[in-house]
Amino acid sequence: MKYRMYDLIEKKKHGGELTEDEIRSMITDYTAGQLPDYQMAALLMAIWFKGMTDRETTWLTLAMAQSGEQLNLKMVKGIKLDKHSTGGVGDKTSMILGPVLAALKVPTAKMSGRGLGFTGGTVDKLESIPGFRSDLTQDQFLQVLEDVGFVDVAQTAELAPADKLLYSLRDVTATVDCIPLIASSIMSKKLAAGADRIVLDVKCGSGAFMQDPEKARALAAQMIRIGRLAGRETVAVISDMNQPLGTAVGNIIEVEEALEVLSGGGEERLHRLIIDLAVEMLQLSDQARATREEAAAAVEQVLTDGSAKDRFYRFVEACGGDTRFLDHPVRTCAYEQPVYPEQEGYLYSCNTAEVGLTSVMLGAGRNKKGDPIDYSAGIRILAGLGERVSPEKPIAVLYSNHWEVMPAARERLLNAYTISEEKPEVPPVIHEILRH
Ligand code: URA
Repeated sequence: MKYRMYDLIEKKKHGGELTEDEIRSMITDYTAGQLPDYQMAALLMAIWFKGMTDRETTWLTLAMAQSGEQLNLKMVKGIKLDKHSTGGVGDKTSMILGPVLAALKVPTAKMSGRGLGFTGGTVDKLESIPGFRSDLTQDQFLQVLEDVGFVDVAQTAELAPADKLLYSLRDVTATVDCIPLIASSIMSKKLAAGADRIVLDVKCGSGAFMQDPEKARALAAQMIRIGRLAGRETVAVISDMNQPLGTAVGNIIEVEEALEVLSGGGEERLHRLIIDLAVEMLQLSDQARATREEAAAAVEQVLTDGSAKDRFYRFVEACGGDTRFLDHPVRTCAYEQPVYPEQEGYLYSCNTAEVGLTSVMLGAGRNKKGDPIDYSAGIRILAGLGERVSPEKPIAVLYSNHWEVMPAARERLLNAYTISEEKPEVPPVIHEILRH
């Protein structure tokens, strides 16, 4: 290492700005295993307290993006798009947007993650389809993109390895919730994955890393600045995560719900978010329509005429998945438990992270890295915020293969909601769209 890590920690501890050279050298050495975790952890904590300037955040992003392989998508014609969600509960938008944009002749190339904490992951959801392989080689990735018009598989270990190492360290040192660190983590992967333009879905609320709109806006603005400095046009949609998105939280049941939307149906808020995200993506592409209304009509068209659904089938087939399963995505869960509220009133608020953690208890997520997932487990949400509920009607159904977890899961889900005689103001699914 050209610099003493001790000096860099000392500098940041007093709020100094690290230089590009210092950041690059530190990331190179950490990726090569030449810097101990305890020193990196100390620096991360100093960053958590003192923050980073825009320049530092961009240098960190670029150093992480260049720490491993970088995809070159030039062989695929047209402007390539990527979309990224900062993570939520019941968020199945990626499984829908790729096919929609492909049907509109806009190629999207995306690498997704697995579930993390209370949040679900697209890769786990897709892998709930029998036979589906998300560990494609780089050549297979490009081939599927070219043949199907979109691709969405697991992030390879070679892509932004520095972020992978740093993320695991942040996870155990309480330094995940830090805007420059989140922004550089997300954007390093987006830059390395090679798309020309990026749409970010920044989740905001009780089921998101950013709980309040101010912080979500600050994170979105930071990522847009990084995108611009790196020459990738970036738009951020700040969307609501104060309740689960749609009616399914799990894996197979989320694939089933994605198929409903791809067949022209689906729950209203999910459908609205899909239209708005797809319009942003379309308008950033070389297939942009003259107006946003025309763009929205084009998106609705591919959802209702079956062409987006057809792309999803082709994608699943290209990745080895059984498309007959998509015709009848059956749940084979041994137990179903309806959850009845204990009082009458309006569903007033939801601790969405707790809903996510309830689904983990049922088996739909992991308690620790590498745990197996029960793809059929999950939660069907039957009531949304602002709805009138009563003890006669369930607000949710729990699915699990383990009867013994049901009582605690039921209690956790009930505690996640408050019920009141006062009707709540329900936030719209889109809070704001930032384009600059
Ligand atoms: N998602 C990421 O990829 N990185 C973070 O730091 C947080 C969410």
